[in-house]
Amino acid sequence: MDLTTQPIGVIDSGIGGLTVWRELVQVLPHETFIYFGDSGFCPYGSKPADTITRRVTTIVDFLMERRCKLVVVACNAITASSIAFLRGHYPIPFVGMEPAIKPALEQTRTRAIGVLATAQTLKGRLFNRTKATYGRGITIIEQVGHGLVESVEALDFDSAATMQLLQSYLGPMMAHNIDILVLGCTHYPFLEPGIRRILGDAIAVFNPAPAVARHTARLLEKRQIKCQNRKHPGQSNFYTTGSKALLKRVLKMVSDEDHKVYTIEIGV
Ligand code: DGL
Repeated sequence: MDLTTQPIGVIDSGIGGLTVWRELVQVLPHETFIYFGDSGFCPYGSKPADTITRRVTTIVDFLMERRCKLVVVACNAITASSIAFLRGHYPIPFVGMEPAIKPALEQTRTRAIGVLATAQTLKGRLFNRTKATYGRGITIIEQVGHGLVESVEALDFDSAATMQLLQSYLGPMMAHNIDILVLGCTHYPFLEPGIRRILGDAIAVFNPAPAVARHTARLLEKRQIKCQNRKHPGQSNFYTTGSKALLKRVLKMVSDEDHKVYTIEIGV
């Protein structure tokens, strides 16, 4: 069977995964993507791991029915809570999303970095292993971004309330003289203009999405399932358990093209 023209699934708790999808379409212009955002059940990061895994299994079943050849888990919280299960349960490869703390720990000059993520992500096994291996002697300020995913899902990127939340999370990091902020949630790049306004130019912001997209392309090549047909027009379809109008609005912000958007309910 020729897998190369089969779709790639992209999943997130909501619209955050679009910050990964927009990088994927840059490096994989001939692929078909099926994006699934579970905005109706968002946020995930404050929910128990087994609840997330159960929900995500239903979503991946849906993608398997549509014959996806690979799934990009464009969500740090799903990666932390469920990727081991997904890899053991389905016969296709899964690409996960982790806060980019390894490069941050290697590059910091002030020996202090900040990590902004959801509670579930900060509990992640790989995250904590990387911290233990590379973080000796470095101050790591971890902060749960309470309320930020909700702000992004409401397309509120820089209201006074959102800026106040950001200030309360970033202020203490700046007081510790961080020189790198790691974004550990795929929703947060939507807040980057506001974050930059607070941090200024001297503090770098690390978003792993471009690296994850390049990794996905390499994996498809290695497995020989990358779409090589230059005449195959890339295409993306979008499914949301939340508001179709909202997803359409945010898609306009990240893409010049018109895309099909569907609302869907899942029964768990
Ligand atoms: N985009 C998800 C992530 O990267 C957000 C998690 C949530 O829904 O709380 O973790």
